[in-house]
Amino acid sequence: MLVGAHGDPRVGYPGNGVPQDAAIHGIHGMGIHLYDQDRMVDFVNDVFFAEGEISEEGDVARFKVGSDDYGNWIELRGNRSDQQGSWRFGAGTYHHFAWNFDNLENQEEAKFSIEGAGYTDISELKDRTYFKSHYVRTPGGALFELAVTHEDGGWDCDESPEELGRQFMLPPQFEHERDHIMGQLEDITVED
Ligand SMILES: [Fe+2]
Repeated sequence: MLVGAHGDPRVGYPGNGVPQDAAIHGIHGMGIHLYDQDRMVDFVNDVFFAEGEISEEGDVARFKVGSDDYGNWIELRGNRSDQQGSWRFGAGTYHHFAWNFDNLENQEEAKFSIEGAGYTDISELKDRTYFKSHYVRTPGGALFELAVTHEDGGWDCDESPEELGRQFMLPPQFEHERDHIMGQLEDITVED
């Protein structure tokens, strides 16, 4: 869904006939369909850093997380008729949503407070080479990732910024599985 927002300072991505003033600036937020919104509203409000007012309209609740003004909106929509989503069946299903926690100290504090509030379905720190993350199962079912990408890692930790996106890079611990992984991606083509 495209969302219009006045004053979004993020620079858009023009190209392929799309001019700068019509370019998409970035992610606005995410929508989650829920059987029961109440526990999810409590979770985001009490421990997952909701800021400002929660606006509620019918079976939709909207609010933002963290201090940024753009890119961090959550829309919770009550839905008792569709089956719950699953990433096991069907390509194109979202597996999780990642939040940028900026630095490892902040990330650790957040993990500690979420876990301490009783949401114990949260992983230990996973070192993905390019980023480090905890993953927490929210009471609504959606998986949230607490990620830090710029400290002790980063997308350019094993190649220069100019080279990004030209080769299929893997963390060293998965390099021995390259052929298998590439085989699973054979339908995806990358053009120069
Ligand atoms: Fe992720």
